[in-house]
Amino acid sequence: MAATAFAAEHAYAFTDADFRFLREFVAAKCGIALGEHKRQLVYGRLARRLRALGLSSFAQYCELLRREPEAELDALVSAISTNVTAFFREAHHFEYLADELLPKLLAARGGRVRIWSAGCATGEEPYTLAMVLAEALEKHGAADARILATDISPQALDAAQRGSYRMDRLDDVDATRRRRWFLRGTGRYAGQAMVHPRLRELIAFRPLNLLEAWPMRGTFDAIFCRNVVIYFDKPTKERLFARFAGQLAADGHLFLGHSESLYGMSDAFRLVGRTIYRRSAA
Ligand SMILES: C[S@@+](CC[C@H](N)C(=O)[O-])C[C@H]1O[C@@H](n2cnc3c(N)ncnc32)[C@H](O)[C@@H]1O
Repeated sequence: MAATAFAAEHAYAFTDADFRFLREFVAAKCGIALGEHKRQLVYGRLARRLRALGLSSFAQYCELLRREPEAELDALVSAISTNVTAFFREAHHFEYLADELLPKLLAARGGRVRIWSAGCATGEEPYTLAMVLAEALEKHGAADARILATDISPQALDAAQRGSYRMDRLDDVDATRRRRWFLRGTGRYAGQAMVHPRLRELIAFRPLNLLEAWPMRGTFDAIFCRNVVIYFDKPTKERLFARFAGQLAADGHLFLGHSESLYGMSDAFRLVGRTIYRRSAA
């Protein structure tokens, strides 16, 4: 869209130079590649932020980012990225985990299991992992099992840590699990469901930008990084997949989103199921 037509239709001036700066800033800081067609979306999402900050143009907002890049980064990322998620999203991944992977891990490793939900958004993914893991642990007996759940967005992580969801968010959780793993709110919490404390015990929530250094020392048996790299450019994806391979146990698994693939991106993995990869022997 021509800059002049754009300006005429919008309350805040948003020039080509502003958009170019924002694209470069977001790509460098969090790997999200905003195509030319995202201009309207960027305007819509950030106009609210400009209003909240009392700014009158995108040029002023870009200036703020130049001056205090780290202070504004969280709000910018939360505004730009989408946190859409669901319990048991791509259910076949959790069937594979329950039927194939966990029985093997629990038998072979003396019950040590480490899973990473990388880009956990508002928590539905790690709590789904925790339900499947808790059920496997009941069958196999005590074990040293933990889930790390990380996200770049502090708002999403806050919601994840609260672990309280509207009842209609539980539509994809079967009735047995709903009864077992959620506590129904009453009184002022009516219509809400709180995750069972047993699920919380299994998860550590931490802020983490996947493009920066990772503090974890040990390896993981499985990494779920689903519907996150979809926004990243190819070199960023290639680097990230190489780092995932290095952070996985020798036969560790990587689970990607339904529209994501390692094809042409990495030869460190082989496909073992729909969007399920196993680390190849080095
Ligand atoms: C669409 S959600 C996916 C949630 C969940 N994995 C799923 O598949 O349902 C994408 C998440 O990736 C996070 N994200 C985007 N860029 C990131 C980065 N550079 N580092 C860490 N998390 C990031 C976003 O904050 C968002 O919560």
